[in-house]
Amino acid sequence: MRQTNLNDFIKLEEENKKLEYKIEEEVKKNVQKEKVLLEQSKLASMGEMLCSISHQWRQPLMEINSLFMPIEAKVKLENSVNKKELLAAITKLNEITTYMSNTINDFRNFFSENKQKQKFNLSTQINAVVNILSTSLKENNIKLEIVVKKNPEVYGLKSEYSQVLINIVNNAREMLVLRKIDKPLIKITIDKQEDNAVVLIEDNAGGIKTKNINDIFKPFVTFEKSNGTGVGLFMSKVIIEKNMDGNIEVQNSKNGALFEILTPQNLTK
Ligand SMILES: Nc1ncnc2c1ncn2[C@@H]1O[C@H](COP(=O)(O)OP(=O)(O)O)[C@@H](O)[C@H]1O
Ligand SMILES: [Mg+2]
Repeated sequence: MRQTNLNDFIKLEEENKKLEYKIEEEVKKNVQKEKVLLEQSKLASMGEMLCSISHQWRQPLMEINSLFMPIEAKVKLENSVNKKELLAAITKLNEITTYMSNTINDFRNFFSENKQKQKFNLSTQINAVVNILSTSLKENNIKLEIVVKKNPEVYGLKSEYSQVLINIVNNAREMLVLRKIDKPLIKITIDKQEDNAVVLIEDNAGGIKTKNINDIFKPFVTFEKSNGTGVGLFMSKVIIEKNMDGNIEVQNSKNGALFEILTPQNLTK
């Protein structure tokens, strides 16, 4: 009898070990999956960023072209080019290339591998994001309104936080364009509640049209658009809630979608 018990026990132990191993494997797989998803979403946002850079560069590139056209014509016709004219063109050229290189620097800062948590000012960060997205918003006649009720500092990952803002604003822009909304508007409100910095992003695109609104935070959930990846909002939730101990929520307001991002201030951990 005792022998049987012992055998049973050994058997049970073995089963337990197997189970533990299986669980460990599954956890590992999950971590790996999340990593891949994050990489994917980062690539997706980089693609979106490259797109807005190319938009932002089109204008200055054309300006450079037209700047030197009259000079080129004169040189070809062997007319004299006066020094003043040439210097003015070069000065203008310098201004334009400085602007272009600033765009690239902004871009680099956003995706720098600087994973250190740091204190940053919310409205400064939002202004930087808006600067980068402004060309594509203007192109679609989308009005952007920023309301600063309070201007809190945030403690966290600056560039990742920017990625979240870019995702949400780009989603709003895409829907406003797709649904051909009259008087398209995106409104960003910066505020503070107790120890949290609060950012509200609201559009008038008509809202999120799915039965369970929180599904949009699940990976690969994309609908209505033809080129969606469904990764942007999933990643945004991971960044805000897992990496920054904050909270991100969505609801449909009267005219469109309303996102609320809450992040703790001055966290010392
Ligand atoms: N502001 C919005 N208005 C309406 N629908 C939205 C809005 N933001 C997101 N959505 C919906 O949520 C889905 C998921 O968004 P996201 O995770 O960024 O993936 P993707 O943009 O690649 O489709 C979108 O496909 C879209 O249908
Ligand atoms: Mg998106």
